[in-house]
Amino acid sequence: MRFGMTTKELKEKYIKFFQSKGHAVIPSASLIPENDPTVLFTTAGMQPLVPYLLGEKHPSGSRLVDVQKCMRTGDIEEVGDNVHLTFFEMLGNWSLGDYWKKESITWSFEFLTKELRIPIGKLAVSCFAGDENASKDVETAEVWKSLGIPEGRIYFLSRKDNWWGPVGNIGPCGPDTEVFYWTGEDKPSDLTTSDNKEGWVEIWNNVFMQYEKTSSGKYAPLKQKNVDTGMGVERTTAILNGKDNVFNVNELNLITDEVKKVSTKEDERSLRIVVDHLRASTFILGDQRCIAPSNVDQGYVLRRLIRRAIRHGKMLGITKPFLVGLSRIVVDEYSSDYPELKENQNFIEKYLGLEEEKFTKTLNEGQKESFKKIKMLLDLNEKVKVSGFDVLKAAKISFDLYQSSGYPLEMFLEDLKDKKGLDKETSDKICKDVGRLISSHQSISRAGSEKRFKGGLSDQSDTNIKYHTATHLLNMALRKVLGDHVRQIGSNITKERLRFDFPNPVKLTEDQVKEVEKIVNDIVDRKIPVGCIILPKEEAIKKGVTYLQGEQYPDQVKVYFVGNDLDSAESKELCGGPHVSNTRDLDHIEVFKQDKIGEGKMRVYARFK
Ligand code: ALA
Repeated sequence: MRFGMTTKELKEKYIKFFQSKGHAVIPSASLIPENDPTVLFTTAGMQPLVPYLLGEKHPSGSRLVDVQKCMRTGDIEEVGDNVHLTFFEMLGNWSLGDYWKKESITWSFEFLTKELRIPIGKLAVSCFAGDENASKDVETAEVWKSLGIPEGRIYFLSRKDNWWGPVGNIGPCGPDTEVFYWTGEDKPSDLTTSDNKEGWVEIWNNVFMQYEKTSSGKYAPLKQKNVDTGMGVERTTAILNGKDNVFNVNELNLITDEVKKVSTKEDERSLRIVVDHLRASTFILGDQRCIAPSNVDQGYVLRRLIRRAIRHGKMLGITKPFLVGLSRIVVDEYSSDYPELKENQNFIEKYLGLEEEKFTKTLNEGQKESFKKIKMLLDLNEKVKVSGFDVLKAAKISFDLYQSSGYPLEMFLEDLKDKKGLDKETSDKICKDVGRLISSHQSISRAGSEKRFKGGLSDQSDTNIKYHTATHLLNMALRKVLGDHVRQIGSNITKERLRFDFPNPVKLTEDQVKEVEKIVNDIVDRKIPVGCIILPKEEAIKKGVTYLQGEQYPDQVKVYFVGNDLDSAESKELCGGPHVSNTRDLDHIEVFKQDKIGEGKMRVYARFK
């Protein structure tokens, strides 16, 4: 058994091992899903691969391996315990219609027991127990048994535990088998139910993706059988080092030490929140897409993370600005794997600094007011001898604080928790009431809800595919009309429209809009074929294809082009697809809305007429 393993060593071992099994290494995709409105962030390694799991050909082949940067904001309230992080790195290997259960499980077993040298006695596995949609996964259990996992350590659990996906409400999914590591000192306990996992920590999940959940709620067989696996880097490293919490890995230890240096008070939970949120914020700001704090979508989640970090910094007695300094540790530690962090360092520091300055002021003023109001709220109950307090009144106070000074709801809830203690149910109730007050005032406060079940990449409906091709044409037309500075910095498709973000100082004039529409619609009328070719990345770039700046692409890339051949194509773009096969399948488009979404950034909306 090895101790003292770093995250880097684990990642290297994993990648090398799967390369030796014929897997091509692909780079981590952006934290912001491309063309996928179902989620705000990439939450698993499989997410950028959805089109390929559904049957598109991947340019690097049918066996892939990577380390993917992920964000799970659904767990934000849990951060501070031993296992939850918002940002984390996920190791994954995939079979896209290639190998199946036997190879996948055998390699997992080999990696765990030979490469990581984990004794078999410390492992247990769970398999899908079966239900009306899919049968009991006896095949998987048999493979584990043949490898030497004793029958008593193979458990069959229900869908709640052993089914993974889809990420939104439709898309690829399937039964999985999970590997657990025993962290206890004593003899391992049983893992017979999902509620009996104490001492066992899940370290690997192998999903056998052979179903597609459709919009009618049915589980249809996929065109191909895929394997999707996920192993959390921080969790596995910590465990291999005999540590009981995910903050005990080299990079997070370094940040923790720095936070401690500037703290005057001790609070383990706040310390962990600062460390986690600071790392996550640095990765979002420094992402290929350069997300800045705002009041919507990813920018809102980012703002919330930065603000929580500041607030918990305050609870640690930190009085001076501290986030920019800490972000440098993140950039230094992670740039070799994620070069975009170094490239975007100025952007990261600028926005962290601005947000910290602004919010510290708001916080100091708002908190005084908040404490005063909470005291009044609690005194009132004291007087009338009511246990608890008036939830609706609390919501109203929070709403007023937010309206008058931007003091955030989550901060108010923390203040209330400090003074009163607050169970989840009451806290949820207040959130709901505040939400109601906000929407009745038509304020735009979009909760950082991770799931927005609308379609997206998993939705390979005709409309979605058509909008995807139209997005390429729009990108090309905007470049023709406005200039070469136009490039895609964000895109989003729903059944009703496409949305496209690009750098430009001002909105398009009416004439420019007409010109853009005409260029696209002419191509639709000309019934031009849409082709696809796989090329070495350098060659594709030499041929002048459009690509997402800052995005890391694999060595072999897929180019979709609108034209009879690549050289004469109207539009040529690095893209995973899918697309229509001829522009005659598209309808005419109209640009129906434009927004300025930040300094020098524009957003246009277009739909089929
Ligand atoms: N997609 C699977 C997970 O995230 C492997 O657990």
